[in-house]
Amino acid sequence: VCMAYRSTGDQREAHGAFLLVAPVVFVGFMGAGKTSVARRTARMTGLTAIDADTYFAHDIGMSAGAFIRAYGEAAFRDAETVVLRELLALEPALISCGGGIVEREENRDILRDQFVIYLRVSAEEARERISSLQSRPLFGDMAEANALNEHRAPLYEEVADCVIDTAGKTVAALSNRVVSCLKERGLLCPQPR
Ligand code: S3P
Repeated sequence: VCMAYRSTGDQREAHGAFLLVAPVVFVGFMGAGKTSVARRTARMTGLTAIDADTYFAHDIGMSAGAFIRAYGEAAFRDAETVVLRELLALEPALISCGGGIVEREENRDILRDQFVIYLRVSAEEARERISSLQSRPLFGDMAEANALNEHRAPLYEEVADCVIDTAGKTVAALSNRVVSCLKERGLLCPQPR
């Protein structure tokens, strides 16, 4: 059905009402813009964006950062897997994950079966975008952030269906790229109003 709409260039696309045929998961380093881009893409398409860390905070009653400080990273990773599974079981949505989602092999196995968009960013640019490191206890200093990003880069790539470089791009420009990518891959199906 999506193929047919795409080939006719149906004008209804311009009205921004779409059906998402499968969940779309955003991964990338802290500060890559996962949450902002998912939210903006949702506004452009009429879809739903869900942020895994916000969902976690609502469920657990404390933020991801506070939870890591209180109980450690391993406990957070356990909870993160539960959240990921829960979100993927909902109606297909644009799901932004915490930057460390790829640390667990179990999560990478889950993500390999999903449509994943990797927003690539350097640790330097990420640092410029993050207003407060308080909420990111795992960012560390610049050397640590660079090392962590380098360690994770192949893991993000391993699960990604679409890689978007974020360097110097606005949230709006990145969301346009996301929409193009989803249309090309048949994930977005235009809906009549
Ligand atoms: C983490 C990233 C954070 C949050 C937690 C751990 C990480 O999310 O899940 O602090 O290990 O990279 P953002 O990527 O949204 O900052």
